[in-house]
Amino acid sequence: MTYALELKNLCKSFGRTEIIRGANLAVRPGERVAIIGPNGAGKSTLFNLVSGRLQPTSGEVHLNAQRIDGKKPHEINRLGLSRSFQITNIFPHLSVFENLRCAVLWSLGYRYTFLRFLSGLHDANARADQLLAQVGLAAKRDVQAVNLTYAEQRALEIGVTIAGGAQVILLDEPTAGMSTTETAHFIKLIREVTEGKTLLTVEHDMGVVFGLADRIAVVVYGEVIAFDTPEAIRANPRVQEAYLGSPVAEAQGGAH
Ligand SMILES: Nc1ncnc2c1ncn2[C@@H]1O[C@H](COP(=O)(O)OP(=O)(O)O)[C@@H](O)[C@H]1O
Ligand SMILES: [Mg+2]
Repeated sequence: MTYALELKNLCKSFGRTEIIRGANLAVRPGERVAIIGPNGAGKSTLFNLVSGRLQPTSGEVHLNAQRIDGKKPHEINRLGLSRSFQITNIFPHLSVFENLRCAVLWSLGYRYTFLRFLSGLHDANARADQLLAQVGLAAKRDVQAVNLTYAEQRALEIGVTIAGGAQVILLDEPTAGMSTTETAHFIKLIREVTEGKTLLTVEHDMGVVFGLADRIAVVVYGEVIAFDTPEAIRANPRVQEAYLGSPVAEAQGGAH
């Protein structure tokens, strides 16, 4: 089996502090994985290691059986892995459409030559309009990103993340700061736009986690202590111990 993404004994230290301590994970193509764990467990650091923003101290990361640790973020992106960077990769004073078109052009590599840029412009326009509809922002096409609501900005961010057609998508707390209604709507959107892709998402809302994920990875103190179906994770004593009195316990009916 070729895994879409595989972490092998991944370690990362900041100074003398070991933050990621031998993390292992093997995600199948098309699988939706939720990563849960206490604050400071190392979930965002894991994403930074996978996306190339940080280099591991030791261990390996494989994307479609190709080793990617040590590569630059844009190289990893070109190999088909895209990670949301929250609203920081949105250009606030460009319109929604322009933001999407930039993301498409960037992903196609048209920033390199002007001639290729011209020939690609037509395709990029069509693709940007398609993305616009996919993330539900067609009515906001010509609105400056800065004037969108928070939830709309997050939707635009998803559009930018998927613009290049990456098959492996990482979303770090995509519903953070959203109301319950917005969250429900947004999860539906994420489901739709990542259909058939491999999705890894860090998520706090346990209702969302159990509804969205095929498998759940539990990260505690820099290790993946469990990786299993939602039902098995609920029943896992090690997880219950790590989460006693926490949202996982509450999600199974308030058992403490
Ligand atoms: N660049 C960094 N330098 C030093 N410590 C860091 C750095 N990034 C994260 N950490 C530390 O690593 C730990 C894990 O952080 P993080 O991955 O953000 O956790 P999570 O996303 O699970 O809440 C925290 O203790 C954090 O302070
Ligand atoms: Mg985090």
